[in-house]
Amino acid sequence: MLYARLRMSGAATLRAPKQKIVDNGYMLVLGIETSCDETGVALYDTDLGLLGQVLHSQIELHADYGGVVPELASRDHIRKIVPLTDRVLDEAGKTLDDIEGVAFTSGPGLMGALLVGASFGRALAWSLDVPALEVHHMEAHLLAPLLASQLDQRPSLPFLALLVSGGHSQIVHVHDYGHYKLLGESVDDAAGEAFDKAAKMLALGYPGGPEIARLAKDGDPQRFTFPRPMTDRPGLNMSFSGLKTFTLNTIADHQPLTDQDKADIACAFQQAVVETLYIKCRRALQATGIDDLVIAGGVSANSALRAKLETDLDATVYYAPLELCTDNGAMIAYAGALRLVAGDSSILRIQTRPRWPLEELVRFETKPDARVDLRTTRQLT
Ligand code: KG4
Ligand code: ZN
Repeated sequence: MLYARLRMSGAATLRAPKQKIVDNGYMLVLGIETSCDETGVALYDTDLGLLGQVLHSQIELHADYGGVVPELASRDHIRKIVPLTDRVLDEAGKTLDDIEGVAFTSGPGLMGALLVGASFGRALAWSLDVPALEVHHMEAHLLAPLLASQLDQRPSLPFLALLVSGGHSQIVHVHDYGHYKLLGESVDDAAGEAFDKAAKMLALGYPGGPEIARLAKDGDPQRFTFPRPMTDRPGLNMSFSGLKTFTLNTIADHQPLTDQDKADIACAFQQAVVETLYIKCRRALQATGIDDLVIAGGVSANSALRAKLETDLDATVYYAPLELCTDNGAMIAYAGALRLVAGDSSILRIQTRPRWPLEELVRFETKPDARVDLRTTRQLT
């Protein structure tokens, strides 16, 4: 109904949204994340920092299926988005009228899931007469480590970013904010996807990354050696699907698996992914002469990966606190706020981009931004 009304009105006939930021240069932004299996809503104030965030994870909903079921994900986002928005406003002592901009994930991600956040976010911005901003999910991951750091503890431009999530494994040259060059990526499975699949083969829970990481702690690192795919040839592309087959074969060769076998396999698998990512990052740093590396996305929560990169790379490594590594609304509010205060905004149309190359984004001017108090971060479920 609302969508029909928007289309009938036509963007051109509607007045431009008011820009409340002109008064003081600051802005209160509502951020909405619905690209996959978490509904995240957050409020970011460019003066005061993160005022609050709430997150609903759909892990239980998808657990029986061993992976995300897109239709179930969309329906659950619909159920949660309004109560979560009410809750984040309530907890921050704000009302809808205080919102000065709305940022929502527009892609990449699952089409149906994205549509929920985009329709809600775009319509809300329109009804409040404030600007809206379509956020690129991977740019939000990339910027998340900045959200929780002091200005003097941030990487200096240009820097490299290793983006490793359930859908992406990329090495990105960050020339400037919004100006990204893809140096390498996975030609098949993403690193997080590989963790999830290996966990499924070991009959562990979903999502698999944290499960493998937990089990790997009890594993014997000397027992198995898994391949480090595509490290024996030049270039920065990666491949993780072969590890899946190797894991499957190792499991088949050791039936029935004892708990120790499982831990040893998890350990070998994790080592292979970590070492592969390390080799590719080292190569990228050497090739570019850069010495600052951001790691972001769900897999950047992996402590073995963090430790390896921090210890063995000749670079300063930056990453976000754990709760900001996996999907969340705060990173969307933050990325959106940075772009909104720089004058960026989206047209009056509900659109999603399930596939959206990072390189298509445009550079934006950063303004000095805020302190962040992570004590306001809350996990609801
Ligand atoms: O960024 P994210 O929350 O969602 C996507 O954008 O895809 O990443 C989710 C992925 C999952 O594949 C999950 O298994 C993985 O991140 N992950 C981890 C860890 N925590 C989450 N992988 C390895 N170790 C972890 N501790
Ligand atoms: Zn993500």
